[in-house]
Amino acid sequence: MANKYNTEIRAYGMRVLLSRHPEVRRLKRDNIPSSHGNKFWTSSWGLIDYFKRRGMKQGSRIMEVGCGWGLAGIYCAKKHGAVVTGVDIDPDVFPFLKLHAEVNKVEIAFMRKDFNGLTGRLLTNTDILMGADICFWDGMVDQLRLLIRRAFRAGVKLVLIADPVRSPFEELCDYFVEKMDAEIPDWSIKRPRHIQGQILKITSPT
Ligand SMILES: C[S@@+](CC[C@H](N)C(=O)[O-])C[C@H]1O[C@@H](n2cnc3c(N)ncnc32)[C@H](O)[C@@H]1O
Repeated sequence: MANKYNTEIRAYGMRVLLSRHPEVRRLKRDNIPSSHGNKFWTSSWGLIDYFKRRGMKQGSRIMEVGCGWGLAGIYCAKKHGAVVTGVDIDPDVFPFLKLHAEVNKVEIAFMRKDFNGLTGRLLTNTDILMGADICFWDGMVDQLRLLIRRAFRAGVKLVLIADPVRSPFEELCDYFVEKMDAEIPDWSIKRPRHIQGQILKITSPT
């Protein structure tokens, strides 16, 4: 738990630098994320907790879309040896992802793409497509619906989207529950603080 003097928190074996950390402050002078990638969002903890409980095949190939500072992907690389690519529309999030990868001693690739730009070809050789807090505008529902469908056609085995349960996320869930028997497990964690939400979990039909 952070107090007002802490500049970082440690949770799930990871270091997470807070906005008042001197390195984060330095990066914020030159990089101004424009699509809400200005901090790490709490739904990342939902994905992290999911993998901590359920595990993951060592060396899984993961694409984290709308990665922002990329904490969920960094956890998967650090604790499960995953090979992770962070994808985001906004190149200004990359320095923050790079800094967190460095302090956690992992390597994460970065690709600047929006949801529509992730073609089937780019999605091949990916086992898990995941994202935290990426379905917050109505216009994102259709883009994510199409992205998830492309991902399964390209051979992705599992899609996980964590959210604090905003209405666009619920719309996305309704679609995949009806069309692909998706599950929507609740998540709730106590540390680093009490937060909760849901994960849209869709497994490959093949
Ligand atoms: C609310 S933040 C969540 C960031 C990160 N997943 C987390 O949990 O801390 C949303 C992220 O999605 C990115 N984003 C927004 N629209 C996008 C799009 N169309 N394609 C790809 N990334 C997008 C933003 O740049 C931002 O980094």
